[in-house]
Amino acid sequence: MLVVANWKMNPDSLFEAKKIFNELKKAKFDRRAVTPVICPAFVHLESLSHKYRGGAFKFGAQNIAPFSSNREMTGEISASMVKDLRVEYVIIGHSERRKLGEDNNLLAKKIANALKNKITPIVCLGEEARDQDAGHLRELEKQIREILGEFSKEAVRKIVLVYEPVWAVGEKGSVIEVHDLNQTVLFIRKILVGMFDRKMGMSLPILYGGSVNEENIDEILKGDIHGFLIGRASVNPFTLKKILKRVTAV
Ligand code: PGA
Repeated sequence: MLVVANWKMNPDSLFEAKKIFNELKKAKFDRRAVTPVICPAFVHLESLSHKYRGGAFKFGAQNIAPFSSNREMTGEISASMVKDLRVEYVIIGHSERRKLGEDNNLLAKKIANALKNKITPIVCLGEEARDQDAGHLRELEKQIREILGEFSKEAVRKIVLVYEPVWAVGEKGSVIEVHDLNQTVLFIRKILVGMFDRKMGMSLPILYGGSVNEENIDEILKGDIHGFLIGRASVNPFTLKKILKRVTAV
């Protein structure tokens, strides 16, 4: 299981970020059963990862540039800069970034850059809304084909997917029903089987994201998933510690 803590634009200070991470480091869980990935803001990343060696927590970035390094590109952070901080994962295609205009074509470039730098892309997929005539499935299929279509089977094998319906994310969101989750994961797998092959399509890790917290974690754990992408609940170290414990208890 992979538990990805997406801290988004939190907390406000490095002091608080350190406090959260110091508390998290006290967590007791079975390291063989779960890999927690902390994704702080870029400005906090190095201070947290700097002296941390060989522990149970891995680090992820919340974004990378779609360009290779050493470019004139104001404000961007390249995959190689992130790699230099010993970051092993990067979140790509989060709906909050898509809202800023990131399209599938751009996401594919980011994935390519991550893979080139041996960083595991955690790629978010998910529909805006659900409707009666299964439009959400067409939307998902389009995302998968446009984002992954140019990659080889060998490249896609190095990717982690997250099914994160946009309607489930954030304060106004509500967590998905396990039945719907399983159906959608199967749908994603079928597309992957068609695009690549059966083995790859059925085994690629797929996480779930959207309003996961300590109250609903046991229920969602019944789903056919390999872990979670967690926003709000992950910034509270006590909550995240409980979640890690629950995940390793199954
Ligand atoms: P949430 O966010 O857990 O706060 O709904 C999830 C995410 O945006 O990745």
